Amino acid sequence: MHRTLCCAVATSTSHRALVRLFRHLGMQDAVTAAKRAAAYRAVDENIKTNQVVGIGSGSTIVYAVERIAERVKSEHLLVTCVPTSFQAVSLITSSNLILSDLNRHPELDVAIDGADEVDMQLNCIKGGGGCHTQEKLVAANANTFIVIADDRKDSKTLGEKWTKGIPIEVIPFAYVSVMKRIASLGLQPILRMATQKAGPVVTDNGNFVVDATFNEVYDWCKLQHKLICIPGVVETGLFIGMASKAYFGNADGSVRVRNKEDTA
Ligand code: 5RP
Repeated sequence: MHRTLCCAVATSTSHRALVRLFRHLGMQDAVTAAKRAAAYRAVDENIKTNQVVGIGSGSTIVYAVERIAERVKSEHLLVTCVPTSFQAVSLITSSNLILSDLNRHPELDVAIDGADEVDMQLNCIKGGGGCHTQEKLVAANANTFIVIADDRKDSKTLGEKWTKGIPIEVIPFAYVSVMKRIASLGLQPILRMATQKAGPVVTDNGNFVVDATFNEVYDWCKLQHKLICIPGVVETGLFIGMASKAYFGNADGSVRVRNKEDTA
């Protein structure tokens, strides 16, 4: 009797686990389809031959690079890529695209990148992958900065959907004093810890990342200014007034486009 009960429990548990797994895989497929849709449309509408293109970081940019590589091959486009991270370098080289850097190409035609959240004015929180310093440098030096994301990133105001806080890259030597000053501004700073290594996340620049959560809607420009003035802060993940266009993909392959002009 006991054995039968155990078997029944085991069977129903594994059935529930399988249902959860399939549901999870279904959601993953939907998110992947949404990211790919946004990335492909953005590349098709914004990338032309003879351009210098900034390549962002994260999971959505993978599909943009996939599409650029397809178009370079099929349409013989000449595209020079400026990476924003170690990951971006790997993506560019493994896709046989032309790799440059910001010092060789300090003026870019377009930068294309993912985001953790985008508000109605196209202000973004970035840095979920800890690459926001290079991402901001590349975006700031591009004529056009294009954001690609799945629909979950589209929000009315920053902090509504992305609750992990504003990623802030900091000099390790000063991280305690930086965190104290961030807290004195009313935010809650947390040192980002690594998951496959003991200790904190270390950026491509050898720095730490502090995620600063917040409970109110700020004047983002003023907040950016206050944060960047803290000694030891390298850069924040607040991208205010930088994006020209955002492409939000849906699981069914449709894409919603938000232009800067529409936000005025
Ligand atoms: C990395 C970033 C990414 O662009 C951001 O985290 C979005 O990533 P994903 O495309 O995986 O959602 O800012 O620093």
